[in-house]
Amino acid sequence: MKKIAVINGVNLDRLGKREPQIYGSATLGDLCSMLDARAKELGVELVHFQSNHEGEIVDKIAELSDAGVRLGIINPAAFSHTSVALRDCIAGNEIKFVEVHISNIYTREEFRHNSITAPACVGVISGLGFGGYLAALDFLAGR
Ligand code: DQA
Repeated sequence: MKKIAVINGVNLDRLGKREPQIYGSATLGDLCSMLDARAKELGVELVHFQSNHEGEIVDKIAELSDAGVRLGIINPAAFSHTSVALRDCIAGNEIKFVEVHISNIYTREEFRHNSITAPACVGVISGLGFGGYLAALDFLAGR
């Protein structure tokens, strides 16, 4: 069965509690359950990972790539705007990632307008809420 990584970065473990006016009231667990349900319909398997630590995410991507995973969804969260290390990791592994942002980063503060990681990904979805993850999953399952 095709395996798809779902990587969530810093502070996304706080979904449901953090700035609900921006990110909504559903939790990371709700997001994972919603994606698992869609994955079942699509006949793919998801590998979920969340960390607040940049290096742990880098290690996990390399581990999954070495284990043969070739497709992924990533919301690097604030690391999108800061992490050359994560950009290099995405560019240097075999996993094709779609970058997802729950909010529309282009309508928010200027420091969010640039994603360092996005150019290393095959595409970017921003501003569709959790629907962005579903759209990314549908796209990757069809690849
Ligand atoms: C985010 C947008 C980022 O700017 C922010 O730092 C996040 C979440 C989003 O999903 O909308 O933590 O990636």
